Amino acid sequence: MPITTCIFDAYGTLFDVAAAARQAATEPAFPALQNTWMDLAGQWRLKQLQYTWLRAVAGAHTDFWEVTQNGLDWALEATGLAGDDALRQRLLDLYWELQAYPEVPAMLAALKKAGMNTAILSNGSPDMLNGAVQSAGIGDVLDDVLSVESVGIFKPDARVYDLVGQRFGCGKDQVLFVSSNGWDAACATGYGFDTAWVNRAGEPVDRLPWVPGTILPDLTTIPNVAGV
Ligand code: LAC
Repeated sequence: MPITTCIFDAYGTLFDVAAAARQAATEPAFPALQNTWMDLAGQWRLKQLQYTWLRAVAGAHTDFWEVTQNGLDWALEATGLAGDDALRQRLLDLYWELQAYPEVPAMLAALKKAGMNTAILSNGSPDMLNGAVQSAGIGDVLDDVLSVESVGIFKPDARVYDLVGQRFGCGKDQVLFVSSNGWDAACATGYGFDTAWVNRAGEPVDRLPWVPGTILPDLTTIPNVAGV
């Protein structure tokens, strides 16, 4: 079936999750970040994701904002930055206004112009996602912002991917699901979506029972992949 509906992961896919630490590292108040921001950003992201998977398996859901803070606290301690309350607060504030990758507005506008349904499907809590969407100025090229909070479990639980069909009334084979997380794209393939993995860092393919349908260096060619 032709693709009618393009669904995007948020953090790392539309929004640059490293931008918070990168931005704070340029500010005079946080000289300790200049040499450590990449390490901090990587450890923060990894712990944040690990906590989502562990909480899903353990049946101990909490929202993504709490998981994001827990991951940051672990990463600050691991990189020797624990105790800098001003830095912690600045990084958390920046997370609400992450930059979108430069190609995002034109790519979404091209999909909307072609009549595609467009939406975010994210672990993020609704208020975090709305903050990022507003900050990036992409609200008018998205039909909806779908959050796992409506089902109370994180990706890759199938109940999260079910939200797309429930919202748009489309079949799984009419959906192109786009994520920068290899595991998210792979698991969405297993669910039945067409998928694209945006592999900006050139990472190896995850060893899972499924693989992403398409692997791309950035989001520029998504309209072509969707058949626009
Ligand atoms: C999200 C995370 C997985 O936005 O990046 O759902």
